[in-house]
Amino acid sequence: MTGSPSTGNSAAVSDTPFGQNELVLVLDFGGQTAQLIARRVRDQNVFCQLVRHDLSAARIKELNPRGLILSGGPASVYGEGAPQVDPAIFDLGIPVLGICYGLHLMCHVMGGEILPADSREFGRAPCSSVGNNDLFAEIPETFTAWMSHGDQIRSMDDRFEAIASTETCPNAAVRHRDLPIYGIQFHPEVTHTEFGGQILGNFVRGICGCEGTWRISSLIEQQKQHIREVVGTDRVICGLSGGVDSSVVAALISEAIGDQLSCIFVDNGLLRKGEREQVEQHFTDHFKTDLHVVDARERFLTELDGVDDPQKKRKIIGRVFIECFRDEAASIPNAKYLAQGTLYPDVIESGASPDGPAATIKSHHNVGGLPEELGFELIEPLRDLFKDEVRRMGLELGLPEEMVWRHPFPGPGLSVRCLGAVTEERLSIIREADAILIEELHNAGIYRDIQQAFIVLLPVQSVGVMGDARTYENVAAIRAIQSEDFMTADWYPFPHDLLARISTRIINSVRGINRLVYDISSKPPSTIEWE
Ligand code: XMP
Repeated sequence: MTGSPSTGNSAAVSDTPFGQNELVLVLDFGGQTAQLIARRVRDQNVFCQLVRHDLSAARIKELNPRGLILSGGPASVYGEGAPQVDPAIFDLGIPVLGICYGLHLMCHVMGGEILPADSREFGRAPCSSVGNNDLFAEIPETFTAWMSHGDQIRSMDDRFEAIASTETCPNAAVRHRDLPIYGIQFHPEVTHTEFGGQILGNFVRGICGCEGTWRISSLIEQQKQHIREVVGTDRVICGLSGGVDSSVVAALISEAIGDQLSCIFVDNGLLRKGEREQVEQHFTDHFKTDLHVVDARERFLTELDGVDDPQKKRKIIGRVFIECFRDEAASIPNAKYLAQGTLYPDVIESGASPDGPAATIKSHHNVGGLPEELGFELIEPLRDLFKDEVRRMGLELGLPEEMVWRHPFPGPGLSVRCLGAVTEERLSIIREADAILIEELHNAGIYRDIQQAFIVLLPVQSVGVMGDARTYENVAAIRAIQSEDFMTADWYPFPHDLLARISTRIINSVRGINRLVYDISSKPPSTIEWE
């Protein structure tokens, strides 16, 4: 199960069981890259979380962060309804770094003037620092910075001085002369900014004084301890999907409480080749959990019989999944907790954390999510982590690379890749072709460069020749995309010889496919899945 937003024991920032001694907070002003700032700070082994931009100075003091970062955002400081900040945060003595809008707001609050720049600046610009300062320590005097702004500082209070400039932006970076308060017009969190990670590192380490003690390995130990304390002698149920999030949750809880964990894996018959066997192997051999495999293949196929509308398929699969899960869970005595693989971005997007930023609109696929009425208390040990941190945790827990790096797979499984009616015969054609595609991506060493790749079976037949005989078989498509967040995606530019190899292998060895096409559509306007 992948992260449905939690409503259960949602943790406030202060409740988080780890990272308390070195915490950096990002005040979120709605910038698209606010989460990325937190990610980059964590790369410095410093725990970092997003909070609402209007968190009071008193609450911030309570949370006791080592540093504050004011994120960018789409607003203009003088605009109607522009997000504000509690001015008292600048008197707390906590180091502050304002980025883009965060910089404007900071200067505005402290007596400066912000105006639309003569020319809006987007993209790369050479940026030169002036004199020595902690923010740019060990960084070449001129580096490439990524700019994305309309407004800039027109004038600032005398207590501030410029420490870097670009051709069109004289105050590309500023600092307070007496207090540990800094601001930058460019975005250090994006990879287009050279030395961006180092600039953030200079802030959190050099200026905030963090030592960088946050590690996945210590996190695992802390989480195990926390789980034991919460669960006591009760039993935990964890739904396994074969995906990385639920596998990591199960592995972590298994290490924490051993045989007090029961896992449920529903085989809906819509899985990829070998997926069920892999889950069985890992969660009985490697992690010795009480694994319940519900063989519901027939039930799903019967319910899906004759259904070709994608949304109807999703609804049926969601409903039958919950029924299967509930029935199996009811057979497990004394189960009190349900473990879910909710990740930090889900927590942010759902607005579930009281100190966290307000929810933003996100298209949410709920298939595979479980309703609250099941009556369990939730345990969400990954709710502070980003996806790549979950992967690192999975590897440290001993899950195989293949499982940890597996491309995401939708809850409705192969049914949304089997266009039109879903039958066992058509599913097995997809499974075979898909396995060849994935094997070839591994052989070519590009599996991880692609975020999702799969075969789609079309409800179209085409004429072909095989030997001397005419065939009339299915058309299939290859879909392979690159994406940062799956909200937008580009199609992957395969080398031609690889495409040729994939095509030859699939058409020669998978009975039922005599034509393969290559999907060259981006998202938007297309979606990643075809249904
Ligand atoms: P789309 O097709 O919307 O997919 O561009 C974006 C990401 O979401 C996955 N996806 C789903 N995941 N239930 C899920 O759990 C669904 O119904 C569903 N539909 C799409 C898709 O595989 C991609 O990673």
